[in-house]
Amino acid sequence: MKKFYLTTAIDYANGSPHIGHAYEKILADAIIRTKRLEGEECYFLTGLDEHGQKVAETAQKQSIAPQTLCDRVAEDFKSLCTRLTVDYDDYIRTTDERHKVVVRKILQKLYDGGEIYRAEYTGLYSTQAERFVLERDKVDGRWPDDIGEPIELKETNYFFRLGHYQEWLVGFLNKHPNFVVPAFRQKQILTFLKEPINDLCISRPKSRLPWGIELPFDSDYVTYVWFDALVNYISAIGYEEERFGDYWPADLHVIGKDILVPAHAIYWPIMLHALGIPPPRHLLAHGWWLTRGGKKISKSLGNSVQPLDYVDLYGADAFRFFLLREMVTGQDGNFSHDLFVARYTADLANDLGNLVSRLISMVERYCSGKIPQPASEEPLDQEIKESARRLILAVRMEYGNFAFHAGLEQIFSFVRQLNRYVEARAPWQLAKQNDVSADRLKTTLSFVAESMRIVAELLRPIMPKIGPEILRRLGATPVDVWKNLSWTHSQAGKGILTGEILFPKIEWRERSAMSSVPI
Ligand code: ME8
Ligand code: MG
Repeated sequence: MKKFYLTTAIDYANGSPHIGHAYEKILADAIIRTKRLEGEECYFLTGLDEHGQKVAETAQKQSIAPQTLCDRVAEDFKSLCTRLTVDYDDYIRTTDERHKVVVRKILQKLYDGGEIYRAEYTGLYSTQAERFVLERDKVDGRWPDDIGEPIELKETNYFFRLGHYQEWLVGFLNKHPNFVVPAFRQKQILTFLKEPINDLCISRPKSRLPWGIELPFDSDYVTYVWFDALVNYISAIGYEEERFGDYWPADLHVIGKDILVPAHAIYWPIMLHALGIPPPRHLLAHGWWLTRGGKKISKSLGNSVQPLDYVDLYGADAFRFFLLREMVTGQDGNFSHDLFVARYTADLANDLGNLVSRLISMVERYCSGKIPQPASEEPLDQEIKESARRLILAVRMEYGNFAFHAGLEQIFSFVRQLNRYVEARAPWQLAKQNDVSADRLKTTLSFVAESMRIVAELLRPIMPKIGPEILRRLGATPVDVWKNLSWTHSQAGKGILTGEILFPKIEWRERSAMSSVPI
């Protein structure tokens, strides 16, 4: 059976992971967890991009073999995923033999089919972007940061007939207006395609760059890193094997906006088409994390936020929450330490964390530790029930559109509504009064408990530890799929469990060993 197949960009093995890498993998993981809760069978691929000039140069600077560098970096990136509870099914490395075999097979096939030819080319080459660039790549007359200052280069190389498929691609994009999410980025691709596109140089002479996959038809050359890297999406799932159809077409490639055009939106669909394989179903292009000064956070700019510092101090769930709550999916977002602390304190520690501990202690104190049956319902209570029901639908819809920020916004506005409800009902006063108030007390606590159960369920894709932990404290079992999530009172009579504070207040300066500087 065809699974929901999701991939992320495979990160360059030339440095340590930073917040941009962490974000993309968390976004992908939240999508996968959501899909699983929606009852879909899923497959989640991520990995590492290990060839090319940047990796070769970094290894040289460290006086180690490129493979040694890649092995180290692979461990860093994989352990980042583990620490972030990014639960991938497969991790592909482009130095894996299974990958190289497929790249060679594809090159030979395209070469035999006349799709690849040899020619001499003089042009401007960007080491930063690892490709030949054109004057038109300039932004406002300047080379953008991700291209840097290109050099002039004259070389004999192999070229893939990209231009031949330009019309096909335009037709495909017009027929599939939702191919790229968000939609405005699809328009950028069509604009790019208004002018003729060049054929793609897919080789590098070994004399200049020995680190790569050797061309099967000319041992003096290695494969251009992008042509090699993109193939990971099909080499990992057994290209030309029987199981391939269980995965392909990929349902979603999650990537950053900087690698949408030309790599993922031009090269990749055309490479696939030339091989007789359908394109992926959708590309999700997310934005960049910027510093407060508006600069992209990156390795090369040296201003990276160390994701693991945040995970160590605040926990993976809080970090995941912040990234998904703060970034409007598809747009850029600002990261600053103050913003992080503000959200952590207001949303997590105060609004959510306090409500959970208050509820648990009230159930313990007033109901002998068992969640009560609801009694009489008044308009105030019914409002809560209605809000909870609407919340389930709204959040499932927002998450389904990858709008985690919007889903979380609604969840936390409901949490604040619950806090107001508790204040208005004042269970500590009801507990001292008569029969009417005893009924109100039961209803209030059972309604807050049921609401918290729903909130915890809806937080599961974002906070895979805290969500289930709240459920555990409520004596609840997580639902298998969200279509079974509704307002019930299945918790009535269940014993609650106490536990540690979910989101303790923490001062950054309490830790001296932080490797990143607050920005
Ligand atoms: O591009 N904010 O690798 P990479 C958000 N190997 N996302 C960011 C970011 C930031 N500040 N900085 C980087 C490559 N990213 C290639 C991909 S795929 C076949 C090959 C994202 O390590 C970036 O947009 O430079 C990309 O999606 C991913 O991190 C890996 O970037
Ligand atoms: Mg990059």
